[in-house]
Amino acid sequence: MRNSSTWLAFFVFGMFIASFWIVSCENQNEEELFGKTGCDTRDVSWTTDVQPILASRCLHCHYEGTGAIAPFSLQNYEDVLIRVNTGQLDAAINHRSGSPKMPKDGPKLPECELSKINIWILEGAANN
Ligand code: HEC
Repeated sequence: MRNSSTWLAFFVFGMFIASFWIVSCENQNEEELFGKTGCDTRDVSWTTDVQPILASRCLHCHYEGTGAIAPFSLQNYEDVLIRVNTGQLDAAINHRSGSPKMPKDGPKLPECELSKINIWILEGAANN
């Protein structure tokens, strides 16, 4: 009698531990690790990350040609590199004091897009 209740206690305890183990495995999916939308900041590049962000958030003002709202283009890598080197890009997107805040008249870039551009700048703003 005493023996079987000891085994029962072991069994219940074992199930208890096992259930924690199962739950912890279930939580290790992409959503838990990277957040709902997922933000992968490994291997950030001009072509696959930075350029598309600028295209969707900035180029409707920052383009070459008459009628552009912004005073310079951010269409090409060379255009953007100039603003990286002056520090203006960093200051504008991170809303640093004393700088015009970009996107103009809009909210700061979403966290993931901002991180990608900041990492790209930190890693040397390569044309990759
Ligand atoms: C609604 C139009 C508009 C949008 C959208 C916009 N800009 Fe601008 N941007 C401007 C204007 C106009 C200026 C000139 C300064 C001013 O008037 O604030 C400017 C200036 C800048 C400057 C120079 C800041 C300085 O130090 O003088 C940078 C860098 C810049 N923008 C980057 C961006 C980036 C990056 C985006 C997208 C994330 C963006 N802008 C989106 C209109 C815009």
